[in-house]
Amino acid sequence: MDKHETLFARAQGVLPGGVSSPVRAFKSVGGHPRYIARGEGATLVGVEGERWTDFCLAWGPLILGHAHPAVVEAVTRAARDGMAFGTVNQGEIELGERILAAFPGRDRVRLVCTGTEAVMTALRIARGATGRGKVLKFGGCYHGHVDGMLVKAGSGLVTLGVGDSGGIPPTVAADTVVVPLDDEAAMDEAFAQWGHDIAAAIVEPLPANNGLLVQRPEWLRHLREMCTKHGALLILDEVITGFRFGYHGYERVADVRADLTTLGKIVGGGLPVAAVVGSAAEMDLLAPKGPVYQAGTMAGNPVCVAAGIATLDVLAKGEVYAHLDALGRHFDAIPKRMPWVRQGPILWPWLGEGAPPRTDAAIPSSVRAPFGAMHAAWLYAGIYFPPSAFEVAFLCAAHTTADLDHLVEVAERAHVV
Ligand SMILES: Cc1ncc(COP(=O)(O)O)c(C=O)c1O
Repeated sequence: MDKHETLFARAQGVLPGGVSSPVRAFKSVGGHPRYIARGEGATLVGVEGERWTDFCLAWGPLILGHAHPAVVEAVTRAARDGMAFGTVNQGEIELGERILAAFPGRDRVRLVCTGTEAVMTALRIARGATGRGKVLKFGGCYHGHVDGMLVKAGSGLVTLGVGDSGGIPPTVAADTVVVPLDDEAAMDEAFAQWGHDIAAAIVEPLPANNGLLVQRPEWLRHLREMCTKHGALLILDEVITGFRFGYHGYERVADVRADLTTLGKIVGGGLPVAAVVGSAAEMDLLAPKGPVYQAGTMAGNPVCVAAGIATLDVLAKGEVYAHLDALGRHFDAIPKRMPWVRQGPILWPWLGEGAPPRTDAAIPSSVRAPFGAMHAAWLYAGIYFPPSAFEVAFLCAAHTTADLDHLVEVAERAHVV
C-alpha cells in the first residue's frame, strides 16, 4: 500500500466513506483518491511527491490556479488581523461592490458561505416575493444539496419531483417541478399546469454538472419569457459560470437577464464565499430589512472575503480572460479523434455517440467504463482530471498550451474507438 491507500484506509474509520464530499471518493472511476500536500499554479503535489497538472482546480474556484501570490498575500494579511469578528467588516462592502459591478442593474448582494446556501436563500426570497410554493428545475442541473433540489423527474414528461437522495420528505420533493432541458413543450406544459404556483424557475445557464450540456440560446430566452408571463422569478445558478467567461455572469454570454443570480466558487478565490445577487425589490425582502430570514456565523468572513476581493481584482485586469481565450483556441486546434465539448475555459470529454448531448438523458451510462480507463491513464501520466465521467474540467491562468497538448495526447492514446 502506498501512502494514499494507507491514509484512505485510515479515513474510512473516521469520515463516512473516507471523505468529506462524495465525489472525492473515486467511486465512479475506481481506485482510491489521492492525498494532496500542496498546490502550485496548475500543479497538485501529492503526499508522495507526485506532480499532477490539475484540471479539477477544486471543482472550479481556482481560476487563478493554486496559491496565487496576490490571494495568498491578501489572506495572510487578513488572517493576521483576526479570523472572524461576528460583526460588520469593510471587506464585505468591497467584495459586494466588485460583484455588483459585474451585474448591471442589480442593487444588492447577500454573502453566504456555499453555493448550496446561495440557492437555498434565492429560493426563499422567490417564495417570499411571490407567496407561491413550487420551484421549476431542469433534469441534470445541480443546485447544491438543498432538499428540494436533490430531486429528479419521475417517468412522465413533466412531473412533480421524487427525492433523488434518502432523507428527503415526499412533501418537500413535491414542491419541485422537474422538466427536461432543451424542451420548450415540456416547459410550457409545466407552466400551464402549475404556473399560478411557481415561485421561481432555477437553471444553470450552462449546465455543467452532468456533462457540459450547452443549451440553445432560444431555449433560455423562452424560459425567461415564460417566467415573466407567469410572474415567476428566474434564478440563474451561476455558481460555476459566474466570472468564468469574463468579468460578468454567463447571462451576458447567453443574453438573458436573471431576477436572482447565485454565485460561488470563483467569488471566494478558494475560500468559502458564495452570494445571491438581485434588485433591491427582491433582495431587501431579506432580514433585517424584510421578513425573509437568512443568517450565517461565517457569512462575510473577513479572511474569506479578502480571498474573493484579491481574485476579482486580478480578474478585473482582463489578462487572465485573454489567456483563457487563447488556451481555448489552442485546444480547438489540436488534432483529435476523440470529441470534446468546450465552452470558454470549461472542457468535457464526450465519450458517447453522435452530436454532443443537450440533456442528461442523452448521456448513456456506457461512457463510464471508457472514462474510468482514461482517468487512470491521465493520473499515470501526471494529469489530475475530475474523477467522474459526468464532471467537467476547468482551465486556469497557470495552464499552458503544453498542458493542453499533453491532456489531449494521453486521451487520444487511451481512447478506444
Ligand atoms: C451550479 C451549482 N450550484 C450550486 C452548487 C453548490 O455549491 P456548494 O458545493 O458550494 O454548496 C454547485 C456545486 O458544484 C454548482 O455547481
